[in-house]
Amino acid sequence: MIQTEKLQSLFISEYGEAPQVTVRAPGRINLIGEHTDYNMGFVFPAAIDKSMYFAFRENGTMTCNLTAHDKDAKVSFDLDGTYDTDKLWAKYCMGVIKEFQKKNIKISGFDCLFQSEIPIGAGVSSSAALECGFAKGIDHMANSQLANWDLAIIGNQAENNFLGIQSGILDQFSSLFGKANKAMLMDCENKTFDYYEVDLDTYEIVLINTNVKHSHLSSGYNDRPSECAEVVSIVSESYPEVSSLRHLTREQLEDSESNLSKVLYNRASFILGENERVHAFKAALLTKDIEEMGRLLYSSHQGLQNLYEVSCSELNVLVDLTDVEESIAGARMMGGGFGGCTLNLIHREGMEEVIERIQLKYKQITGIDSTYYHVKIANGVEVLK
Ligand code: GLA
Repeated sequence: MIQTEKLQSLFISEYGEAPQVTVRAPGRINLIGEHTDYNMGFVFPAAIDKSMYFAFRENGTMTCNLTAHDKDAKVSFDLDGTYDTDKLWAKYCMGVIKEFQKKNIKISGFDCLFQSEIPIGAGVSSSAALECGFAKGIDHMANSQLANWDLAIIGNQAENNFLGIQSGILDQFSSLFGKANKAMLMDCENKTFDYYEVDLDTYEIVLINTNVKHSHLSSGYNDRPSECAEVVSIVSESYPEVSSLRHLTREQLEDSESNLSKVLYNRASFILGENERVHAFKAALLTKDIEEMGRLLYSSHQGLQNLYEVSCSELNVLVDLTDVEESIAGARMMGGGFGGCTLNLIHREGMEEVIERIQLKYKQITGIDSTYYHVKIANGVEVLK
């Protein structure tokens, strides 16, 4: 954990004065319910104990100075509505500022420094932590007192409008609403959710990072929302009540099969199955049925790999390697896909040896060193001072 004192002293050495506000914003895992968010379906995420830490101070000008401490990088710009930068991390910040300004919230110039312990490109949403922590700090300085939902939407809109990534609300929601030891089953259509205790008995959640990352902009991520929208537009000609894949039934999909390409049929079929798996996973979590949870993880991965086609060979290797490991109940790729981590349910006994074995074989097959993280479920975004 990054200490607040450390952050404060870094801020002072950068800007000469102590910060007025400090914020912590976590990354997230998603137990199950992948790519369902922008289809108005169900997700089951949690915030994790890896965070990004921010320090802010108003500087009495109309200039915004940003320091990404880990990257040893700085960006300064005027708050005049014309924002541009070649630094991806600064784009997220500019996108957030733009969304505040769209709401007519007056922002004055400020200095900001941030530091992160969230692995980047690992599929645990370092970008949402950046958007949400940054938004929380601005909200505090501007005294706009926005609700967490407003901040989540600001973060998501920043991605959609400024970065051009057609993502859903999953990541920002998870970073802002997380609670220690609890996962959240959210209905992305009406934005209601419930907390569920994550008690996995003798099992733990371990993320194994392929250490390959494909940006959402260059990967196929952005094609998926439009493919899903295409299915909806075709099916709704016969079934006008189908306003999103959330409202599509199996029968309607089967009935529409001849109007859909194989690819579109597969995309919709995956989303239907994934929404069902979220509810099945909740039932298994409540009864601590680890075997069933594991089965659902594998089934989710198969769909992501073969029907939704957002996996990649490295992720598939990591999941396939768990097959022969008796102490692994299940595994799947997590997040947007095209790289990043797998989520694994592993029995505590002998866990380190099992992970080591998988890492070794992964290296032999792909030539790449993987990394892993034991996950603790933690609280969401908070103002520290
Ligand atoms: C990325 C996006 C989310 C969501 C996931 C897949 O993390 O940012 O909105 O679509 O992929 O579930």
